[in-house]
Amino acid sequence: MNNHELVLVIDFGGQYNQLIARRVREAKVYCEVVPYDVTIETILQKKPKGIIFTGGPSIAYDDDAPSVDPQIFELGIPVLGICYGAQLTAHLLGGKLEAASNREYGKKTLNITASDHPIYKEVGQETTCWMSHTYHVTSLPDGYKVIAKTDHCPIAAYANDQKKIYGFQYHPEVVHTPKGSQMLHNFLYEVCQCKGDWVMRNFVDSAIKSLREQIGDRKVLLGLSGGVDSSVAAMLIHKAVGHQLTCIFVDNGLLRKNEGDMVEKVFTEQFDLNLVRVNAQDLFLTKLAGISDPEAKRKNIGETFVRVFEAEAEKLEGVELLAQGTIYPDVIESGSKHAAVIKSHHNVGGLPEDIKFTGLVEPLRDLFKDEVRAVGREVGLPDALVDRQPFPGPGLAIRIIGDITEDKLAILREADWVYRDEIKNAGLNKEIWQYFAVLTGIKTVGVMGDERTYNYTIGLRAVTSLDGMTADWARIPYPVLESISTRIVNEVKNVNRIVYDITSKPPATIEWE
Ligand code: XMP
Repeated sequence: MNNHELVLVIDFGGQYNQLIARRVREAKVYCEVVPYDVTIETILQKKPKGIIFTGGPSIAYDDDAPSVDPQIFELGIPVLGICYGAQLTAHLLGGKLEAASNREYGKKTLNITASDHPIYKEVGQETTCWMSHTYHVTSLPDGYKVIAKTDHCPIAAYANDQKKIYGFQYHPEVVHTPKGSQMLHNFLYEVCQCKGDWVMRNFVDSAIKSLREQIGDRKVLLGLSGGVDSSVAAMLIHKAVGHQLTCIFVDNGLLRKNEGDMVEKVFTEQFDLNLVRVNAQDLFLTKLAGISDPEAKRKNIGETFVRVFEAEAEKLEGVELLAQGTIYPDVIESGSKHAAVIKSHHNVGGLPEDIKFTGLVEPLRDLFKDEVRAVGREVGLPDALVDRQPFPGPGLAIRIIGDITEDKLAILREADWVYRDEIKNAGLNKEIWQYFAVLTGIKTVGVMGDERTYNYTIGLRAVTSLDGMTADWARIPYPVLESISTRIVNEVKNVNRIVYDITSKPPATIEWE
């Protein structure tokens, strides 16, 4: 790891801190996020090419506000303060802050007053920036100059080129600052003189190295769901410690067509991973019998999962560590509805008291979803796993409205298979965030040949989204919808009607449940 250029991101508690780290990685520079009370000694040991101070909710004037040893500005290492980081820097060096009369929030026009400044290379004279602050710098320390302003913020960015200390009041890391990545790139390359030697391969190598250090000769257990995150975590740990890792894959019978076999095949045949597949389809179905309420289904599935997992884990001897595919959005969202559900499904926090692990292994904790996918590709996982769309832990159980039976599961699996096949044939599979069939609880009259039929209605759901929090219905072209509809009615028994869901989220949700 030490062979790479390194930038330190000093964390003052802002909500975008990992996003800053991610932007630095995108610029091919390795970075570490460290707490604000990091010592000067540690900083010097790490030999960073640059230091970035993040934003944060505090006011730099307050007694208990997070701060740094001002010696940090004397190390000759370039510093970029963002939002709170910029205010703190100015304050520590003798500048003044004031509360703005109104909190400045949202997209603003940034006028770059020093457009030939290296930090604004290829940015132009005017651009949009994202502001979110109450306090701002009103007077700069000696030797500092303004390099950008907005209508309400006369010191939107400042610089001391001699000391290589900079401050941005706005947030360059968010997408609402369209040239923000360029500005960070400029800080890294024009100011810190980075060369850009960080690629995913390095992440994989260093993750493997630190997994070996953490795990030593102990045994690790991981609940593999077949989803992207647990699959990538499994592969990384397997690469690090081989057969010290055991994965338990509970096949609950609620997966899509052929999915369970695909997961088993990839991990055992292709990668020789220590995998225990538990075929618990019948048990899950029996437990679910007669249950229609979606939350009751979830709870039921979660409980059965824990019981099956526990029984399998008890058969293994000497396992001390539990591994999870937790990714960064799970960390920030923990406590929210889905994070909680995902957690209990992946058996995080849902474990019974008597299974004792001495530690957790979470190699993907700092990564965003697309970075996890990139790691997956790097370690050789097939596209079918890496590009898998989000799939709910309770699986097809919440895509069957009403109670669940084996027959209904078979109908839904076939219809969903045809739907996905046609989307792939139309080349739309990468554009649509999630697309799946729903077995509605409705039966209606139809006619086939000369026969009157009374059969199920299949709902087609397809949404575009960035994060699943909000979503829009995908505008699938009519000819594609037509062939999906024709094929499902022709190929799937007991279905005589297809409807397409044209609601966004909100007010609807992505799943029907
Ligand atoms: P909704 O339906 O709430 O879904 O708009 C948003 C995203 O979350 C997924 N989802 C779940 N994932 N367990 C999961 O692991 C669940 O119980 C669950 N319910 C919804 C859904 O597929 C979508 O991606």
